[in-house]
Amino acid sequence: MAGVVVISETIVRPESYEDGSDRVKIHLTPWDLFFLRTEYAQRGLVFPQPDPKTRIISRLKSSLSVALNIFYPFAGRLVKLDHGDDKTAAFFIDCDGSGVKFVHASAMTVSVSDVLEPANGTVPDFWRGLFPANGVLSCDGVSESLIAFQVTELKDGVFIGYGCNHMVADGSSFWSFFKTWTEICSTGLLDRKKIPPLPLRGWFLGGIDYPIRVPISETTVSPVGVVSSSLPDLHKKIFRFTSRNISELKTKANGEVDSDDRKISSFQAIMAHMWRSIIRNSDLNPEEVIHCKIAMDMRQRLNPPLEKECFGNVVGLATTSTTAGELLNNGLGWAALEINKTVGSQTNEKIRVFAENWVKKPKIPNRLVENNSLVVASSPRFNVYGNDFGWGKPIAVRAGPGITGHGKLLAYPGAEEGDIELQSCLSSHVLDKLLGDAEFLLYVCV
Ligand SMILES: *[C@@H]1O[C@H](CO)[C@@H](O)[C@H](O)[C@H]1NC(C)=O
Ligand SMILES: *[C@@H]1O[C@H](CO)[C@@H](O)[C@H](O)[C@H]1NC(C)=O
Ligand SMILES: *[C@@H]1O[C@H](CO)[C@@H](O)[C@H](O)[C@H]1NC(C)=O
Ligand SMILES: *[C@@H]1O[C@H](CO)[C@@H](O)[C@H](O)[C@H]1NC(C)=O
Repeated sequence: MAGVVVISETIVRPESYEDGSDRVKIHLTPWDLFFLRTEYAQRGLVFPQPDPKTRIISRLKSSLSVALNIFYPFAGRLVKLDHGDDKTAAFFIDCDGSGVKFVHASAMTVSVSDVLEPANGTVPDFWRGLFPANGVLSCDGVSESLIAFQVTELKDGVFIGYGCNHMVADGSSFWSFFKTWTEICSTGLLDRKKIPPLPLRGWFLGGIDYPIRVPISETTVSPVGVVSSSLPDLHKKIFRFTSRNISELKTKANGEVDSDDRKISSFQAIMAHMWRSIIRNSDLNPEEVIHCKIAMDMRQRLNPPLEKECFGNVVGLATTSTTAGELLNNGLGWAALEINKTVGSQTNEKIRVFAENWVKKPKIPNRLVENNSLVVASSPRFNVYGNDFGWGKPIAVRAGPGITGHGKLLAYPGAEEGDIELQSCLSSHVLDKLLGDAEFLLYVCV
């Protein structure tokens, strides 16, 4: 199948950026630096075909330029400070208005259905070509733009792929930016005076000096093993939980938990079901230690809480650990309750102690997804389908290449209201067995 042809590649700058001396610096927390050696998070949105008279590329670029005035951190660059004296480096984001990469491409042989339903869960050849930041690592943000977009015109639709440096923004900040961009684009203009300044995250770690110095050895990238998109034998599959499936799972999980002061959420019940089902089909020794790591927003867990809408990366991982044997010898309710307890234990104090310990001996992972872990990112609360550039809402959202591995799950709202979609990446031998597991399939639509 013919590929994706790049038509143009430009840099879009904030509309009215003034190179003043009061340039904002964003200092990086341990949770930001955690992503230093990992790839940009890439996702793609499938949109319907616009009216051919709509000049979408120029409209998208001019509205992006206005949106970047408000969300100016995306237009900055990472700055690295080398401290030769103690063999450390420090980083911050300089909101210098350098701009963001914008690629316009065309793939007239690819249709929306090719993108939505790749044959047999394998990744089609053209897939990487739809994304603008393949293989780009967060530490490359010293020269690469901190967010990049690619608009590819398909045979019967439009695909907007993006890659985002996770040190700058988490999913909730991305989606609030995206909402603003689509609104500016669809309404033509916007009264800028009405837009309040972007609330930045600010430095919330009293007692910790910034910029944090990290040993040089933790900042260099080993040539193998980081870029995970080439891992063999990984298959992608989307699992859809209908609102009925969700309420059945939630009822079952809560029914298996006796203390009635505990309320297991829908999402925790789904995660418990996925975790047990994947482990049941993984042929592990009962003693094998396994983890379930769920990305959580820390804004409101801190004390004093950060503004719900504040811009930046404020996610941590809530990690539940057990052994394969223990997980399988207990039921859904037990697993869900373990996850519930872990989430509940992420208190202000625990978060701050983690940071204090981390700065004493900074450790930055080379790989985010280890094969003994389920890593759950994104959230069914993100408002994916409420965004419209002026020619229709998204048809679907898809995970792009990058930060992947066996056990990576992305959670999104389903296109159907009330549904939850899980985009999974699993090694093919586990996926094949999972797809034949009646207990798993009872609660999920494949
Ligand atoms: C998909 O899988 C089926 C059965 O395993 C096989 O017959 C078919 O050729 C595969 N299609 C592609 C495009 O790989
Ligand atoms: C899951 O949802 C599908 C589609 O609505 C339905 O056919 C199936 O019976 C549901 N299963 C359970 C256990 O709720
Ligand atoms: C989890 O458990 C706590 C009690 O420990 C409960 O208050 C809470 O509602 C439960 N659900 C969630 C989503 O945290
Ligand atoms: C995880 O991967 C490593 C190396 O790729 C392999 O040695 C190990 O057996 C794998 N573990 C599981 C649980 O699949």
